[in-house]
Amino acid sequence: MYSLKELQELIHTRIENLQTGGEPKALYEPIQYVLSLGGKRIRPALCLLSYQLFNSSEPDDSIIYPAIALEVFHNFTLLHDDVMDDADMRRSMPTVHKKWDTNTAILSGDAMMIKAYQYMAMCPGKFMPEVMKEFNDLALGVCEGQQYDMDFETRNDVTVDEYLEMIRLKTSVLIAGSLKIGAVIGGASERDKGLLYDFGENIGIAFQLRDDYLDTYGDPAVFGKNIGGDIVNNKKTFLLLKAMQKAQGHVKDELEMWLKTTDGDDGKKIEAVRDIYDELGIPALSQALMNDYFERSMKALDEVKADDDLKADLKQFAVNLIDRVK
Ligand code: IPE
Ligand code: IPE
Ligand code: MG
Ligand code: MG
Ligand code: MG
Repeated sequence: MYSLKELQELIHTRIENLQTGGEPKALYEPIQYVLSLGGKRIRPALCLLSYQLFNSSEPDDSIIYPAIALEVFHNFTLLHDDVMDDADMRRSMPTVHKKWDTNTAILSGDAMMIKAYQYMAMCPGKFMPEVMKEFNDLALGVCEGQQYDMDFETRNDVTVDEYLEMIRLKTSVLIAGSLKIGAVIGGASERDKGLLYDFGENIGIAFQLRDDYLDTYGDPAVFGKNIGGDIVNNKKTFLLLKAMQKAQGHVKDELEMWLKTTDGDDGKKIEAVRDIYDELGIPALSQALMNDYFERSMKALDEVKADDDLKADLKQFAVNLIDRVK
């Protein structure tokens, strides 16, 4: 059985040694670049932690490659997401479309998705149909979520429920699917596979709520992404939706004015909208909702039939995810 730290080292080394180079360089260099920038690598870690709940044999390539596939897939979504969000920085470095160009981010991203499928297909043959169904479902879910995310930028009547469904799709289904794929390859029961998925779905929502919070309130030097991009893009985050709900009188007028200001001084807009959030007490509401989803995730995990010490590792991992500063 590997500790979380050992699993993370394993993932790190295996990703570092992945053969992602080759010709044409303009296709493969950006792939090596983004993968070398690290990141938290939470999806493969969750996959392997989940696998270990049900299988005590040492992780071999037939689980390690699928775990890596999830990380490569995640990184592919980031290349395209950064184009869609016009984001300049990721992991404290220039995004691929800024360092190279948009076409590079599109095509290297496409190649990464195909690589991800190749790695996923290295799962044990008997689990292939089920693993591929999960992978296809989560991949399509991310696309659906990303489309809602963009649709919502220009809508001002988005509800909190619609927002929660959007983040479930764009973020949670990959986290939930990572846990489920680990459970499938680990040989878990139907019930436990479902519970791990529920755990991931809820922790994923808490994770994206935290991401949205950090986009406004994070420390740019630590977070590694530019602060305020969500405000500039009128992203319908929980923070903004709650502020639109609660604002009255001149505060409401001011918020509406900023939503219409799409080509002014970004810094000014970010500061003004953040002040409105503060005035309305929005950060505490976001924290409360995050805690709520964290509790839901714990209920699902509690019910999984597996060793309590191993489940404690997953629980600690989940705690770290929602307390994170990057
Ligand atoms: C960023 O994911 C995209 C979201 C779903 C919020 P991570 O926060 O896991 O990014 P890295 O991989 O650690 O950089
Ligand atoms: C991204 O949400 C989710 C996916 C990449 C699919 P965000 O757009 O908030 O992620 P960041 O903040 O750029 O990492
Ligand atoms: Mg983004
Ligand atoms: Mg986005
Ligand atoms: Mg974000």
